Amino acid sequence: MCGIFAYINYLVPQQRKAILETLINGLKRLEYRGYDSAGVAIDGGNDINDAKQSPPQIIKKRGKVRALEEEIYSKDDLNLDLEYDIHCGIAHTRWATHGVPSAINSHPQRSDANNQFIVVHNGIITNYKDIKTFLESKGHEFESDTDTEVIAKLILYLYNTRDDAKMSFRELVENVIQQLEGAFALAFKSIHYPGECVATRRGSPLLIGIKAKNRLTSNHVPILYPGDPRADPPPEKNNTTNSGTEGVTFKRSQSTTDFEVLGEQKEVEYFFASDASAVIEHTNKVIYLEDGDVAAVREGCLSIHRITRKKEDTAVSREVHTLMMEIQQIMKGSYSYFMQKEIFEQPDSVVNTMRGRVNFEDNLVTLGGLTEHMSEIRRSRRLLFIACGTSYHSALATRQLMEELTELPVVVELASDFLDRSTPVFRDDVCFFISQSGETADTLNAMRYCKKRGALTVGITNTVGSSISRETACGVHINAGPEIGVASTKAYTSQFISLVMFALMMDQDRISTTPRRQAIMQDLKRLPELIKEVLSLDGQIKKLAEELWEEKSILLMGRGFNYATCLEGALKIKELDYLHSEGILAGELKHGPLALVDEDMPVILIIMKDSTYVKCQNALHEVVARKCRPIIICEKGDLDAQKDASSIVELPGMSDCLQGILCVIPLQLLAFHIAVLRGFDVDCPRNLAKSVTVE
Ligand code: UD1
Ligand code: BG6
Repeated sequence: MCGIFAYINYLVPQQRKAILETLINGLKRLEYRGYDSAGVAIDGGNDINDAKQSPPQIIKKRGKVRALEEEIYSKDDLNLDLEYDIHCGIAHTRWATHGVPSAINSHPQRSDANNQFIVVHNGIITNYKDIKTFLESKGHEFESDTDTEVIAKLILYLYNTRDDAKMSFRELVENVIQQLEGAFALAFKSIHYPGECVATRRGSPLLIGIKAKNRLTSNHVPILYPGDPRADPPPEKNNTTNSGTEGVTFKRSQSTTDFEVLGEQKEVEYFFASDASAVIEHTNKVIYLEDGDVAAVREGCLSIHRITRKKEDTAVSREVHTLMMEIQQIMKGSYSYFMQKEIFEQPDSVVNTMRGRVNFEDNLVTLGGLTEHMSEIRRSRRLLFIACGTSYHSALATRQLMEELTELPVVVELASDFLDRSTPVFRDDVCFFISQSGETADTLNAMRYCKKRGALTVGITNTVGSSISRETACGVHINAGPEIGVASTKAYTSQFISLVMFALMMDQDRISTTPRRQAIMQDLKRLPELIKEVLSLDGQIKKLAEELWEEKSILLMGRGFNYATCLEGALKIKELDYLHSEGILAGELKHGPLALVDEDMPVILIIMKDSTYVKCQNALHEVVARKCRPIIICEKGDLDAQKDASSIVELPGMSDCLQGILCVIPLQLLAFHIAVLRGFDVDCPRNLAKSVTVE
């Protein structure tokens, strides 16, 4: 996840200092979306008809937005007093998905040394390698490791090879995005189209803030399709407005759409941003772009276009919304806490984890980072999964499937214990290190320990450029987006899916297991919808929290695929609610834990219709016989499981090995609501840190 911000002032004179302040403040508001590097692009000179003589300046810096700000103000050659009547600045705060965090990999990315086209991007381009190979064959040289750079170079290539010299900036961008696969929100600027900005989205969020001097006369911007005469008013010569390209000066045409929105505006400012938190201090009028929209600001006019009209495209316009929120609220969307936001992001984060990797048509998985190592992994003697906390639970949750599909011995280890035991490791072992942050000291040390002993090291991490990502021989970025709440939620489900994808890839050539793989993949496809369904139980879980928040202890019981779910649920309750909670393997109940059970002990029991179903029912009988009335998490409509329950949480059923993804979500929500009721700091629980870089 990254943050995009662009600011266009049209006939609203601004000094360069003020423009930079606006861009930097916008980035600061978006910093929660990514904070490993940042950059801005601003115009060189202030004569818009002379853009080519003084190309835009790009300033980029590794680190937080603050570091970029210091870099900007430390420059002696930046004339901060320079005044612009018309200007387009674009800016970006990055959370690396492609290429380590560094100034060169930061955005804006550029087309060439003259900065002819400049772009900022949020998302992942999955076919960038093909485009890069093509552009390299045309003589383009790449300077960064990013997928984004192909976009900047592709637009220059299309500009140089276009048939129609009058092709608009927006049309060029439309041509570019038709070549892109993956997810993106993009904002472009160019010396060939001074004062203009084009932005578009597919899969990543983008909105436009409008600040106009006069009151808006309409609350809708029409959507223009190809062939609409309003789409591209022809340039007219000899007009008095002071911008233009290629010696032609544009006239503000009455046929463009801006007047419908803005009335007779002369002075206007536009803000493109990844979310509303970055624009609310300037304006409360925003348009949310939809996937496939291309928004263009030209001569101070805003127009919104779509390349093709599909049957489902019934909307004829995009509404100008009036934001009613406070800045603080918007930072976290409509959520009160980052953790809550991250729980509710899971329908999207799981898609991002699978994007470009799972082909649902052919039932094939390709983890690009592992492809070259698959034969070595298949030849290995055993697989070790080493991690801490929630990341450890993701390995436990997928161990059974891993054993089933790889037919290799699978060992799951807590990193600290693994090191304490000086565990024997061999050259033909493959060792996986799972870590959201990629910096956890115990996991990192275990990785170095295994590397020294000649094992193949594989990272499963959320953080590109982290130590684990860099030092492992290969790996998988889980692409869940930054996780800010200390208690891990969306990283767990994305780690889970990454490990499932790896297991599927290991088994890909086996014919006998094809139906099993197909069933899992089809359920992976349904997963976002099913997660949404589970999240809709939030109100019910909150009521449950109201019953439980004053308890001293909560036991969670399950077995098979859901033992790890119980451990993870108990960890969430410990971390957030500071109360005793234990995940108990239901098979172990009669070997000790049953002594804890009586009518006063709160018990949550997970009973799913998998191979342990009957055994879980036995566990239910055992606790009910001790007068306990457990809370049951079961499949929708399973009346047998519900008979003796004090409360029921009904979930959609799915493949046994993926069920844990759905089962953990009510437990995340429960821990969250109890913490709120107990008045605790949800995002920063006491005594804990997001990234534990000490042993
Ligand atoms: C990569 C790109 C992605 C692009 C896709 C298109 C990166 C970071 N990702 O994703 O932006 O859309 O190609 O083909 O450039 N690695 C480790 N250790 C780890 C994690 C990863 O060594 O802990 C290595 C991998 O082996 C790989 C590289 O980092 O060489 C990128 O990994 P990953 O992002 O998972 O690869 P792709 O999914 O192919
Ligand atoms: C910390 C966090 O202890 O580290 C946990 O509080 C987390 O939530 C654990 O699971 C491991 O972190 P990582 O970054 O290695 O997955």
